[in-house]
Amino acid sequence: MINNTIIVYSSNTGFTQQYAKLLGRALDMPSYELGSVPKCHAGAQVIYLGWLFAGSIVGYKKCARKYDIKAVAGVGMSPPADELAEGLRSTMKIPSNVPVFYLQGGFDIERLKGPMKLIMKVKCRSIAERLLAKGELSAAEQTTLDMCSGPASAVDEINLAEIVALFK
Ligand SMILES: Cc1cc2nc3c(=O)[nH]c(=O)nc-3n(C[C@H](O)[C@H](O)[C@H](O)COP(=O)(O)O)c2cc1C
Repeated sequence: MINNTIIVYSSNTGFTQQYAKLLGRALDMPSYELGSVPKCHAGAQVIYLGWLFAGSIVGYKKCARKYDIKAVAGVGMSPPADELAEGLRSTMKIPSNVPVFYLQGGFDIERLKGPMKLIMKVKCRSIAERLLAKGELSAAEQTTLDMCSGPASAVDEINLAEIVALFK
């Protein structure tokens, strides 16, 4: 374990939390939800994981004001693509010396409430239409399509390999 490096995360429905716990186990680091980090970690070095909301990494800016961010991962429902991480870097204005990752998470519309549930119902319909029109799908695209019709998850320790390699 790298001294004084911790994992901090924001998770709306639990999938980012699952990644944070898997990463914590792989790197032997404690993980905390943003807002519940013990005071003894003030100014700590942080690997930050946040769920994606309309192209933004939830909680990143708040976390970056308080901690020394060493890597960031955005967790979304989209299939991974090369340009996603750099897109997140530019949207979130993450400095060029901080590695940015995109992780495919999970989606369960039944864990959402109110307006978010309504918005995502519509969004899922359009994502599903777009993917179905494509014909042949990669495994990750199929998982995204599955997310649109019921609970589905791509959370897997294997997706953390690059981040683990960076900090091990
Ligand atoms: C309102 C809303 C907006 C979302 N926007 C995006 C998005 O822009 N890109 C994406 O890939 N996933 C998006 N998602 C999907 C979530 O980021 C994804 O399901 C993630 O795994 C949720 O993590 P959590 O369980 O930790 O909250 C959105 C979900 C909701 C509810």
